[in-house]
Amino acid sequence: MKQIAVIGAGTMGIGIAHIMAQFGLKVSLIDLNEKILTESKKIISINIDRQIRKGTINEKQKKNILSNIIFTKEFNESVKNVELVVEAVPENFKLKKKLIKDLDLICKSDVIISSNTSSLSISNLAHKTRYSDRIIGMHFMNPVPVMPLVEIVVGNRTSEKTIDSIKTLTKKINKSPLLVKDSPGFVSNRILLPMINEAIETLSQGVADVYSIDQIMKLGMGHPMGPLRLADLIGLDVCLSVLKVLENGFGEKKYSPNQLLIKMVEEGNLGYKTKRGFYGYDKDAKNPYPIKFAT
Ligand SMILES: NC(=O)c1ccc[n+]([C@@H]2O[C@H](COP(=O)([O-])OP(=O)(O)OC[C@H]3O[C@@H](n4cnc5c(N)ncnc54)[C@H](O)[C@@H]3O)[C@@H](O)[C@H]2O)c1
Repeated sequence: MKQIAVIGAGTMGIGIAHIMAQFGLKVSLIDLNEKILTESKKIISINIDRQIRKGTINEKQKKNILSNIIFTKEFNESVKNVELVVEAVPENFKLKKKLIKDLDLICKSDVIISSNTSSLSISNLAHKTRYSDRIIGMHFMNPVPVMPLVEIVVGNRTSEKTIDSIKTLTKKINKSPLLVKDSPGFVSNRILLPMINEAIETLSQGVADVYSIDQIMKLGMGHPMGPLRLADLIGLDVCLSVLKVLENGFGEKKYSPNQLLIKMVEEGNLGYKTKRGFYGYDKDAKNPYPIKFAT
């Protein structure tokens, strides 16, 4: 694969475009407006500088990575000749379904369309498309340039050829592909999100404050980051969507999203991306401070 399109220049799309470009793929990163695209270019540049400081890449590679990415609003022209599309638009079934239907009509007949969905059914997204054997889940982890896993979600019509191509590509970008069946939340979020939800419930009941909950899980369980900080990083809207998919998919109350999470999303406090969630973040997010919640 040489030519790919990434749709959605948000938290995940930015990271996916970055890592694909780092390993020599030509990427069109597509979003709805110029402002988001300008911002995404800045963020990728800052993230590359972090890699340079760590010594994992050099200045010359920075130039190459940036020159491998086209930041564009143009949808049809950018997707029509690519070999792979990775969609990373918000976690909303109707939005993703429409996008995949459009791609199915515009793209080449041998394109692979992958979704970075955190929880939605790949088989349902692929249902009634012409190329459903070439639709697959590529669930990258956040932050993409750092995290080594891609959870590969196999839909009920995904072909072996598609699986092989995506496994090869995942290894090429220096990540580990692990195959899972198409089931709500797959493996990663089916296990992670109930833990985050429980941390929020613990906070709501006043058992401990934000700082203590996160420190307990870090110092006591060896987690690199506490569950509330992780929720902020993922995005509280994304956490809420995944919990709803788990609740509806399994029909079990144990997955019901906590009321505090719902309230925070309604208030637009979505975590790191809005600079306020369980923590507040200054402009460059260097010194997050825990928020005090009334219980
Ligand atoms: N945030 C995480 O930690 C995380 C981790 C793994 C997977 N995911 C999944 O990745 C996907 C994206 O999540 P995110 O956190 O990056 O979302 P985000 O809200 O940060 O970004 C989504 C971007 O998509 C753009 N967009 C919306 N509709 C579009 C369209 N029709 N065409 C082009 N662009 C469009 C938006 O303008 C926005 O920039 C979701 O499915 C989410 O569940 C998220």
